[in-house]
Amino acid sequence: MTSPSDSVTKSPLRVGVIGAGVMGTNHGRVLAGLPGVTLVGIVDPLDEHRNRAVELIGCKTFATVDELLLAGVDAVTIAAPTHLHHEIALTCLGRGIHSLVEKPIASTVAEGREIVAAARKAGVTLMVGHVERFNPAVAAIKQAIRNEDILSIGITRVGPFPPRMSNVGVVIDLAVHDIDLIRWFTDSEITEVQPQLSSAIAEREDIALLQFRTASGVLAHINTNWLTPFKARTVTVATRGKYVMGDLLTRQVTECFGFKADGSYSMRHLPVGHDEPLRAELIAFLNAVRSNGVPAVTGEEGVASLEIAIQCLEQPPKVAAGGRKEPLRAAG
Ligand SMILES: NC(=O)c1ccc[n+]([C@@H]2O[C@H](COP(=O)([O-])OP(=O)(O)OC[C@H]3O[C@@H](n4cnc5c(N)ncnc54)[C@H](O)[C@@H]3O)[C@@H](O)[C@H]2O)c1
Repeated sequence: MTSPSDSVTKSPLRVGVIGAGVMGTNHGRVLAGLPGVTLVGIVDPLDEHRNRAVELIGCKTFATVDELLLAGVDAVTIAAPTHLHHEIALTCLGRGIHSLVEKPIASTVAEGREIVAAARKAGVTLMVGHVERFNPAVAAIKQAIRNEDILSIGITRVGPFPPRMSNVGVVIDLAVHDIDLIRWFTDSEITEVQPQLSSAIAEREDIALLQFRTASGVLAHINTNWLTPFKARTVTVATRGKYVMGDLLTRQVTECFGFKADGSYSMRHLPVGHDEPLRAELIAFLNAVRSNGVPAVTGEEGVASLEIAIQCLEQPPKVAAGGRKEPLRAAG
């Protein structure tokens, strides 16, 4: 005999993807392989992006969001450019469709709040795609610092210029991941922001050194740029009892512990899972939809992280006396 909750769990969810760019194609690929999901199709206004999705995923495509909604969906993932999140999310949420919105939730805090309010009004699930929380190395760090008295956090997220330059700088594109991690690791809000920004090559900031203090008293910093020839993503967390070091790319997480008065200590590698972060994120979203539970990354959290990122951009620029005022020119 099946209970009503069984039938809810077993009936496939009809899910659509909006945006067939880099992220949306990945969403489509993962959703197409998830049990209990019918991938209804992917929306993109560009023929070539729709054709690429057909080739890579073999799913239906639509030129507009309305066509997807006409086909009938229970949930969507929104991976269109950030400046369109607000309009698209309001359309979907207004029709009672559960929505996962890629990070950052929107271009402005006001737009983010409107998305949150629309989800609440419709009584549907809204989750934000802060996928780094689903990186198994991040999960291992979070587990290692559980119940620890956190003192400081350092995060490095650097790499070369992205192949497609978007209309945002490193703070909104990259640092927002780490702002979310700092808030999540500390279970506390960021209350002080001290940013140093520079644009060496791009029009927007392409180097950012950001310092924070949380309400719980944790000091944190983010070092991010698009000027490093290789990608690096590392996290260190100092607590009273441990020093945890994680490489988010190689997924190696190590902790130093058992500090002794003579300066000696012990070290061990921590077990780290193998899940694909995006797959884990999409499963978490769909589980929240099915159970009507609180999603792993709420809309409110997405807005809070965006708000801190925007605060970093809004601080008046400081130019040190005798400092360089003109942006560096790229060589060659
Ligand atoms: N979570 C992450 O790690 C991560 C990584 C990269 C990007 N993102 C986010 O994902 C979103 C998309 O980024 P991307 O790198 O895939 O960008 P992209 O430019 O590769 O893709 C965006 C796609 O949206 C399409 N599009 C434009 N208008 C549309 C509309 N009205 N309806 C549907 N589709 C439309 C474009 O044609 C393009 O194919 C951004 O919000 C970005 O911040 C998140």
